[in-house]
Amino acid sequence: MCGTYGSSSWRIGQPLCLDCYDYAGAVLWNAHAGELWRRFTQALPAVFARTLGVSRKRLRTAHMLGYGGHFSTKSHRFSTTLGALRQTRADHRADQARHILGLPDSGGRKTITITEWRYAGSGLGHGEHFWQNSRARTSTRPGASHRSQRARVGTVAGDGEQRVLYVVVCAAPAAADVGALVRLAQSAGWRACVITSPMGRRFVDTDQLAELTGEPVRSEYRMPDEPDELPAADAVIVAPATFNTINKWACGIADTFAVGLLCELTGFGVPIVAVPLLKSALAHHIAFGANLDALRSMGVRVLFDPYAPPHARMPTWEQILTELHALLDR
Ligand SMILES: Cc1cc2nc3c(=O)[nH]c(=O)nc-3n(C[C@H](O)[C@H](O)[C@H](O)COP(=O)(O)O)c2cc1C
Repeated sequence: MCGTYGSSSWRIGQPLCLDCYDYAGAVLWNAHAGELWRRFTQALPAVFARTLGVSRKRLRTAHMLGYGGHFSTKSHRFSTTLGALRQTRADHRADQARHILGLPDSGGRKTITITEWRYAGSGLGHGEHFWQNSRARTSTRPGASHRSQRARVGTVAGDGEQRVLYVVVCAAPAAADVGALVRLAQSAGWRACVITSPMGRRFVDTDQLAELTGEPVRSEYRMPDEPDELPAADAVIVAPATFNTINKWACGIADTFAVGLLCELTGFGVPIVAVPLLKSALAHHIAFGANLDALRSMGVRVLFDPYAPPHARMPTWEQILTELHALLDR
């Protein structure tokens, strides 16, 4: 048992424990649910007909004429309940899943069916454990695994130097308040640098952020003869992350400095927390879900609940920073 979330937690619907969550089971279930249900509904009349010793045609006639047309109608002759049908389906599904996974037979044990469902699609995705493990193999302390990134993207930092946090900001209204995140990060000991997308620049006060951080706010690629003002990153927060930037980042379309940087830093394995903020209609676009999965599979920690009410679509800055620290502590 790994605990519970409070009833108002924005993390409800995500795995309680990233290590214990049954990823293979969840993926298999989602992938096969439609096909399993189709086969079940096909097989059920045949099983009924066989059990009752009647033809399928007669069964269909009795079903339609005698009992109002619903397969779960109760009667003396066709005695069943929805619960029993669900149990049959659950057992059938469990047997198939066991078969797919190469697990031993259930030996007639029943599958416990939980009839309440919640979204559980966030959290670690395919391959994310690989990234975590490979990071763990090369890392002796948080941030140590990407010394090479420091050497290549910016100046090499010596031990004891302040850790550098890139705050990447996209073009959404919540960007206007990103100074609060910068202040929190600074109180936690970070040296913060703000990078915005070109459109995102319109949503922030660049002068104020430059004054706050002591660093220029970068939005454009630099030419070879221009100085590289950014120190190397130890960690990154992308917030708010727009629909547009998430999709481009996952697909490697580096047409802005912000996305190019994110693609590069993801490749280096720098710890990144991404906080998408967008309308729920966009969140249900098929490319978006696949692209979030792609980012997760590259090790990006995505904080996103597509079912959150509009006022709670983004976690608070405190929660975002806490997530980053938790990621670094893993
Ligand atoms: C007032 C305003 C609010 C917007 N809010 C959002 C938003 O919350 N989420 C989002 O994904 N896009 C939002 N957009 C659209 C993005 O700004 C637009 O897709 C832009 O191209 C994103 O650029 P970027 O990803 O390079 O920052 C908004 C646009 C405007 C003008």
